[in-house]
Amino acid sequence: MRRRESLAGQVVAINVLLVVATLFAASAAASLDLEVTDERARFGLLAITIVLALLVNMAMLRRRFGPLERLIERVEAIDPADPQAFDPPPEARSVEEIDRLATSFCQLLDRIEVERRRSGRLVLRAQEEERKRVARDLHDEVNQALTAILLRLEALSHDAPERLAGDIGEVKGLTNQAMDELLTLARQLRPTALDDHGLVPAIDGQVRRFEEQTGIRAGFEARGDAFGLGEDQQVVVFRVAQEALSNVARHSGATRVAVGLRASGNGAVELSVRDDGRGFAPAEASGGLGLSGMAERARLLSGDLEIESAPGEGAAVTLRLR
Ligand SMILES: Nc1ncnc2c1ncn2[C@@H]1O[C@H](COP(=O)(O)OP(=O)(O)OP(=O)(O)O)[C@@H](O)[C@H]1O
Ligand SMILES: [Mg+2]
Repeated sequence: MRRRESLAGQVVAINVLLVVATLFAASAAASLDLEVTDERARFGLLAITIVLALLVNMAMLRRRFGPLERLIERVEAIDPADPQAFDPPPEARSVEEIDRLATSFCQLLDRIEVERRRSGRLVLRAQEEERKRVARDLHDEVNQALTAILLRLEALSHDAPERLAGDIGEVKGLTNQAMDELLTLARQLRPTALDDHGLVPAIDGQVRRFEEQTGIRAGFEARGDAFGLGEDQQVVVFRVAQEALSNVARHSGATRVAVGLRASGNGAVELSVRDDGRGFAPAEASGGLGLSGMAERARLLSGDLEIESAPGEGAAVTLRLR
């Protein structure tokens, strides 16, 4: 592998060569005779001056290249999850080339972020479309088939001998249960309420079902006008509410949960899900995809997700979209 040398080192090495060559050229030009003590002193003076000039040169070079090194350090420290936090060192502004480097790097990061958001949204939309399709198929095809079975069983139960009545009743019960489970699954995949009635009724329905299924007391309060929200925003808010509630049910051991939605009418919205359960340390939470998925969804819409929790103090998830 080729050894790589720093830019400052290379400039200094070239300077040393040039200076040494100059020293000998100058002494030759002045026809210094190094055998003569007096002339040797003049040569020494010349050499010292040149070495001093070289040292000053090195010190200045180091200062000049300092901003470049600090820029590199900051570039290396960029958090890929939050490239927007990149901030070029202020001294980079004072050197034209380094300033240009920093500026073009910022522009590159911006372009990557815009592209990442665009493709992220496309993925979210594709995922939602696919869920819609599967939910519709489950509802239309499988549910129709189960209904047909139920009707046949119904007809059969009239003509069947008495001793089979119990069995037929049991099969009917199982079929009904399968239909219920199927509809719950379809609703989770894509709540039709979101398409038919909008965000607030969809979350309201979700919260009421949560209470029925888990026995945890759940309240929902919506303020402001949520009609101005785009489809992407509504889907993200709904999915974050869904995941936060599922975490409350699975991990919190809470007795109460409060869901709040505040829309300001101009597309900004804040969702909060607050429970009184056992809480956790967000920095140490690992393993699942729920928390990171919520944060990623928020970021794709230029929003942010805040998780406030500590062991024994409940948990609060807040999503803000601008
Ligand atoms: N409301 C909460 N109360 C207590 N602990 C929580 C709460 N929400 C999350 N946690 C903790 O944070 C961890 C990570 O949550 P996350 O949603 O990312 O993953 P998960 O729910 O375990 O799995 P997944 O969501 O991928 O099915 C959980 O395992 C749990 O320990
Ligand atoms: Mg989860």
